Amino acid sequence: FNTILTDDFGRKHNYLRISLLEKCNLRCTYCMPADGIALSPKADLMTADEIFAIAQTFVENGVDKIRLTGGEPLLRKDFPEIISKLSHLNIALSITTNGILIDRHIQALKQFNVRKINLSLDTLVASKFHSVTLRNQFEKVISNLHLLLNNDFKVKVNVVLMKGFNENEIVDFVQLTQFLPISVRFIEFMPFAGNEWDRSKMVSQKEILSQLENTFSNDQIEKLEDEKNFTARTYKIKGFQGDFGIISSITNPFCDSCNRIRLTANGKIKNCLFSNSETDLLTAFRNGESITELISSAIQSKKKVRAGMVTISEIDDPLLHFNNRSMIAIGG
Ligand code: GTP
Ligand code: 5AD
Ligand code: SF4
Repeated sequence: FNTILTDDFGRKHNYLRISLLEKCNLRCTYCMPADGIALSPKADLMTADEIFAIAQTFVENGVDKIRLTGGEPLLRKDFPEIISKLSHLNIALSITTNGILIDRHIQALKQFNVRKINLSLDTLVASKFHSVTLRNQFEKVISNLHLLLNNDFKVKVNVVLMKGFNENEIVDFVQLTQFLPISVRFIEFMPFAGNEWDRSKMVSQKEILSQLENTFSNDQIEKLEDEKNFTARTYKIKGFQGDFGIISSITNPFCDSCNRIRLTANGKIKNCLFSNSETDLLTAFRNGESITELISSAIQSKKKVRAGMVTISEIDDPLLHFNNRSMIAIGG
């Protein structure tokens, strides 16, 4: 493994997340400010060829997993072209999507072997879908979830939990895993520019587990072995087809085993989801300069935990995160 992608804490960054664009066909309140964001000019976004060439440099240095995010990655007109190019690299390729355009792209996903899909779905109640996404697309997302399962895709369902909105659906989401072979992941709400985060709106790992312990007995809840560089701590209900996990970025971070590096749609490296110091790769690339040193210095300046926010009270301090981009422009 190349030292370029190894940081001062010995973490090897073999997982690259590439945001393809900053637009979305939903308006989830936890992801995007109510008045939108200032979009990068189109000319500043990486083209399909640039995405491939930059990704190739990462792969030559040890990246073996790439996830495409957004905004909504399936909104890129050239999405099939992008995955076609990336399929030539020796990587596991996956996407995180809101699911609305899955039916349009299912053939391309199959053809280029994008078999693991992370799907965002925060409620199982049709009438509540609009209140978080500000759009009426519940039925479409549900039918595309089934389309994926019927075509043997491996699906993780991402559920961002928020007090007063969906914390009363935790048990229902777990019940869904009885007959569906999905991995539901409950996500602690995280702060980003314009999403009006405050700690009281967040549902914590502890609360999630205690709700489940009130419904299922300790014998029924089985702790699973977590994935190697996990975000989710995973469990299942014995006998159920699917499983569930908890992504506790706030109350129980997993930065020790972090293997992630991010590239924004306008070609900037983010060395941590919570870091607002970015390294511009695309300009150097367009000038014909080598980008390996830039990648290396971005990795070297990565902090041990959450871009330096070690305790929850540091996260509470808006001054420490209000400069960060909105989630829609990072891609999670
Ligand atoms: P897998 O590759 O299947 O493990 O997916 P993932 O969990 O890496 O990615 P996904 O895009 O599905 O994100 C799920 C949730 O985890 C989102 O809320 C992300 O913001 C969060 N997440 C993803 N990567 C990181 C990370 O590096 N740090 C933190 N703190 N949260 C992350
Ligand atoms: N906190 C936690 N997760 C978030 N996501 C978007 N915004 C937030 C937030 N503020 C999730 C989306 C998507 C994933 C990439 O990140 O639901 O599934
Ligand atoms: Fe890695 Fe930063 Fe996420 Fe921690 S918060 S797991 S360091 S990207």
